[in-house]
Amino acid sequence: MSNINNFQDEFFASDIHNATARKCRDLMSMLSDNPIYASNRRIILLGGDQGDQMVPLIGNLARLTGVGGVIFLPKEKASGLCDELAKMDLIPDQWDQYGGGEEAYLKSKQLLLDVPLPSDLTVVPLSVQSPSDFVKAVAEMSMDCGVTPLPGATMRGQGIDGVILAATDWTGAPVAASGSFLTFHPEHILSDQAFWGMLATREDRRGEKIALVLGAMAIVDMWENKGARGFFTGIRHDNDVSKAVCAKMGVLETEYCFVVGADPIHFGDTPMTK
Ligand SMILES: CC(C)(COP(=O)(O)OP(=O)(O)OC[C@H]1O[C@@H](n2cnc3c(N)ncnc32)[C@H](O)[C@@H]1OP(=O)(O)O)[C@@H](O)C(=O)NCCC(=O)NCCS
Repeated sequence: MSNINNFQDEFFASDIHNATARKCRDLMSMLSDNPIYASNRRIILLGGDQGDQMVPLIGNLARLTGVGGVIFLPKEKASGLCDELAKMDLIPDQWDQYGGGEEAYLKSKQLLLDVPLPSDLTVVPLSVQSPSDFVKAVAEMSMDCGVTPLPGATMRGQGIDGVILAATDWTGAPVAASGSFLTFHPEHILSDQAFWGMLATREDRRGEKIALVLGAMAIVDMWENKGARGFFTGIRHDNDVSKAVCAKMGVLETEYCFVVGADPIHFGDTPMTK
C-alpha cells in the first residue's frame, strides 16, 4: 500500500470528534474541487461570507458531519449568523480571528534568534515516518490541554501542506506542540493564508516560552518552505494567555471571526476545541 493510504484511518481524538473527522475526510474528497470550502480534515469551513448561501451551507455541513462553519467572517455578521444557526437547532460557537502576515514572519524569525528552547527539549516535525504511538502521544497531550487534535494523516502533513511540531523531553515524551496548515483551495483568494496555532504545552512545562518558540518555528517553516504569506487562528474571547502568546509573534486581533454551528444530535454539549 502506498503511504497516501496508510494514515487515512488514524484518528486520536474523542469518539465524537473522530466520527466528524471521518465524515469530513469523506465529504471533502467530494468537495475538494470547490474553492469555497477550506478544511484541515477535522472540520469543513466556508472561506469567507457566502451571502445567502452561507446559512444553508453551514446547516448542510453540520447535518452531514456534525459541524459546519465559516472563517474570515466579518465580526459584525457573527451575531446574526449565530441567531440563524440557533433557529436551525444548531449550537452556535464563535472565536475571534487573530492573524499576521510578513510582520509575524519577521517577528517569529527574530524571536527564534532571541529565545532559546529549554535545553532538555528536542523539536520533531511529525511526518509519515513518525511512529503511530508517538503521533498518538502528541494528540493526547494536546487533548489534555483542551486542544482537539487533527486526524493522524493531517498531523503527519499527508495530503496537505503543513506541519505539526512537537517538543519532546529526554524520555521522548511530547511536552508541547504547535501546527500550521494551508487549508484553502489553491484557487481561493486566501490560498496563501495558513491556519496556524494549535498551541498546547503540558501543564507542568508552562511558562518556559515553549509555546512561543514552537509557534514561531511553525510560522517560519510555513513562510520559508510552504509559501504561506499569512497566518490566522481562532481565539476564544476570554483566552488571555493565548492572546498574549500570539501577540509576541505578531499575530494580532483582526476584524474577522470564526463561527461554527454544531449539530446537538451529534455533538451534545462537547466543545469543538479550546
Ligand atoms: C497557551 C499555552 C500553549 C501557552 O504555553 P506556554 O508554553 O506556557 O507559553 P510561553 O511560556 O511560551 O508563554 C509565552 C508568552 O505568553 C504569555 N503567557 C504565557 N502564560 C501566561 C499566563 N499564564 N498569563 C499571562 N500571560 C501568559 C506571556 O506573554 C509569555 O511571554 P513571557 O514569558 O515573555 O512573558 C498553554 O497555556 C496551554 O497549553 N494552554 C491551554 C491550551 C490553549 O489555550 N491553547 C491555545 C488555543 S487557541
